[in-house]
Amino acid sequence: MNSSDTYLVTGGCGFIGSSFILLCRKNNKADIVNLDALTYAGNPLNLAELQNDSHYHFHKGDIGDKELVASLLEQYKPDAIVNFAAESHVDRSIFGPEDFMKTNIMGTFHLLQVSLDYWERHCKNNPGKRFRFLHVSTDEVYGSLGSDDPPFQETTPYSPNSPYSASKAASDHLVRAYVHTFGFPGAITNCSNNYGPRQFPEKLIPLMILNAREGKPLPVYGDGMNVRDWIFVNDHCEAILSVLDKGTPGETYNIGGNCEKPNIEIVRAITGVMDELFPDSPHVPHSSLIHFVKDRPGHDRRYAVDCSKITRELGWKPSMTFEQGLNHTVQWYMDNPQWVGSVRSGDYLKWLEKNYEKRS
Ligand code: NAD
Ligand code: TYD
Repeated sequence: MNSSDTYLVTGGCGFIGSSFILLCRKNNKADIVNLDALTYAGNPLNLAELQNDSHYHFHKGDIGDKELVASLLEQYKPDAIVNFAAESHVDRSIFGPEDFMKTNIMGTFHLLQVSLDYWERHCKNNPGKRFRFLHVSTDEVYGSLGSDDPPFQETTPYSPNSPYSASKAASDHLVRAYVHTFGFPGAITNCSNNYGPRQFPEKLIPLMILNAREGKPLPVYGDGMNVRDWIFVNDHCEAILSVLDKGTPGETYNIGGNCEKPNIEIVRAITGVMDELFPDSPHVPHSSLIHFVKDRPGHDRRYAVDCSKITRELGWKPSMTFEQGLNHTVQWYMDNPQWVGSVRSGDYLKWLEKNYEKRS
C-alpha cells in the first residue's frame, strides 16, 4: 500500500486503535477515517495531536450503524478497513456480557455486510483497488493452555472460555464465513496481551502502575500464576501494517511478543521499576502493596502464541523487549497525569468498586 491510501479504522480512539492511527500518520502511511462510538474506553484525547492533521478524519458512531458506515464508505472509498472496535475487557464481560454481544458479534456482522456491499460495487472488479478488511482479534479465542502445551498456532481449534473471547470468536467466524462464501478479502489477526501508553487503567499493567504510585493495594487474582504472552502495542500495530501490506486475503496471522510471563512476575517487575523511579516514596518497597484476591471466574490459566507464520511469510517480528517496553510504559503514565485524570470518570470509579469489592 502507498501513502495515497485511505484506511477506515474502527475503534480508533481506544488503546490499540489510537496507537495504530498515530503510527500511520507519523509515517504518512495512509489517510485515516476513524469511526468510534466513544464508549468509556474511547478517549479523543488519545489522538489530540492529530487535531490539525488534514489527513485524519473523525466520525463518532457505531460500527453497527449500517447507514452511517455505508455513507462513510461512499464518501471516502477506503482501500482498507481495520476493525478494532470492540468491548475488550474480560472482567466486564463477566458482569455485563450484553454490550459484548452487541458490538463484537452484531456490530461486526453489520460492518461486514456493509463492507461486502462496498467491495462488490467498487473493488471486486476493479484491478486498481486492492481492498482489505482486517479484523483485529485476540489469542483468547483459542482457550486455555496447560503448562506443557505448545503455543497456539493458526490451526489450533477455537475454544473460547469467557463471554469476551466467545464474542470475539463469533466475530472471527463471521469474517471467515464472508471470505469463504463471498470471496471477500478479509484477514484476521489474533494477538496476545498488549501493553503500552494509553491503555485504559482497568487492565493489569496500567492498573498496577497507577495503584503502586498511589500506594493502593495491587490486586493479583488467584495465585498469580496465570500466564499471558505480552507484546508492546507498537509491535502489534507494525504487525497489522505488515498484514495490510503483504498478507494474503483469507488468511489468519497470530501475533505475539514471544514473552510469556506469570502475572505475579509482571506485578513484581512493575513494583521494581517504581522502587527505582521513586526511592523516597513512603510505599517502598512497592511489592509490599501486592495483595492476592479472589480469582476471576473461569480464569484462563495460560496463553502462549506461536507467531512463526507471520515472521516466516511477512518478515515481521516483535522488536521491543519487555524491560524496555515496561520502562517506557511506566514513564508514560507518570508523564501524563492529565490523561489519567480524564479517564477516571465516575463510571470508572464505579467499575473499580464493583469489580474489586467482590474479590476482597
Ligand atoms: P479498547 O477497549 O481500548 O478500545 C475499543 C475502542 O472501540 C474504543 O475506542 C471504543 O469507544 C470503541 N468502540 C466500542 N464499541 C464500539 C462500537 N459499537 N462502534 C464503534 N466503536 C466502538 O480496546 P483495545 O485494547 O484497543 O482493543 C482493540 C481491539 O484489539 C479489540 O478488538 C480487541 O478485542 C483486540 N485485542 C486487544 C488486545 C489487548 O491486549 N488489548 C489483544 C488482542 C486483541
Ligand atoms: P487483563 O489485563 O484483564 O487481560 P486479559 O484478561 O485479557 O488477559 O488481565 C491480565 C491478567 O492479569 C489476567 O490473568 C487477569 C490478571 N489480573 C489480575 O491479577 N488483577 C487485576 O486487577 C487485573 C485487572 C487482571
